[in-house]
Amino acid sequence: MNAGVIGIGRYVPEHVVTNHDLEKRMDTSDEWIRTRTGIEERRIAKDFDTSDLAYEAAMRSIEDAKIKPEEIDLILVATVTPDKPFPSVATMLQDRLGANRAAAMDISAACAGFMYGMVTAKQFIESGAYKHILVIGVEKLSKITDWEDRNTAVLFGDGAGAVIMGPVSEGKGILAFELGADGSGGKHLYQERGKYIYMNGREVFKFAVRQMGESAINVIEKAGLVKEDVDFLIPHQANIRIMESSRQRLELPEEKMSKTVHKYGNTSAASIPISLVEELEAGKIKDGDTIVMVGFGGGLTWGAIVLKW
Ligand code: ACO
Repeated sequence: MNAGVIGIGRYVPEHVVTNHDLEKRMDTSDEWIRTRTGIEERRIAKDFDTSDLAYEAAMRSIEDAKIKPEEIDLILVATVTPDKPFPSVATMLQDRLGANRAAAMDISAACAGFMYGMVTAKQFIESGAYKHILVIGVEKLSKITDWEDRNTAVLFGDGAGAVIMGPVSEGKGILAFELGADGSGGKHLYQERGKYIYMNGREVFKFAVRQMGESAINVIEKAGLVKEDVDFLIPHQANIRIMESSRQRLELPEEKMSKTVHKYGNTSAASIPISLVEELEAGKIKDGDTIVMVGFGGGLTWGAIVLKW
């Protein structure tokens, strides 16, 4: 039995903050942000907390999968910006969705969190223990962003993406994965309790370029495939230059890589599922396509998946 995606949903807040808006608040420029990161604007949640963003995406994915909330066995929420340290966002959703049979927990793996969530779900489904698992990547990074710090404030945004995972037909679903961590790099990207994001951008950049490329190649090999078999790449949307380096490593043409970073900035755990949903809705991913998803983040952590659609 193979685990795959049987329903999708996304939600981004309506409030748009452009680079020009940021120019008025701090010593930066639209030109600097565009050329260094590829970001043009981002969405900021005003009245919504993390669980509200997650709820909106989750509802859409449940509807898309044509299941009832009572049929969900497990809820996994990848986030580093939960409403509260506890209870988890996942348990808040369990109640709000009426998923009365579901177990629930959050996963903390920063921007690689959604990869960790999907791989965890795969184990439960393929062992036969569970049938339907709701996996969400969601962040409200705006609440841990120092709006006085131009080094970080220009990068992040809020949003949520969700999938329902379940059994899919032979040859489809997750064909291979790689997860990893290097805690010695934790000092480059972290948040002290009650404080804002700290980031050593150059160190994270170097790590990201190396790891995104390597993980993408590793996971393709693990699936018994070669670069030429890949139809579409969904990299974590942190910075267009990092994304481009992984695309070039796979020798894919530009139109074969998902790009949503210009609209939403870096939404951490939400960026890969938001991109997946947008590309599917735009018709860029077709039945039978081989997709590589790859993420990296604070921890340091990384994860990659080959998904046969
Ligand atoms: N506007 C204008 N100037 C700026 C800004 C800004 N917003 N931010 C920094 N600068 C300045 C710096 O102060 C520096 O000036 P100096 O040379 O006088 O000191 C100059 O621009 C160049 O700074 P660099 O850090 O060398 O710029 P770089 O090209 O490395 O780009 C960036 C910086 C975009 C942060 C890049 O390093 C990066 O993307 N790193 C990875 C970040 C990332 O992906 N983080 C998320 C990880 S995922 C997660 O878990 C959340």
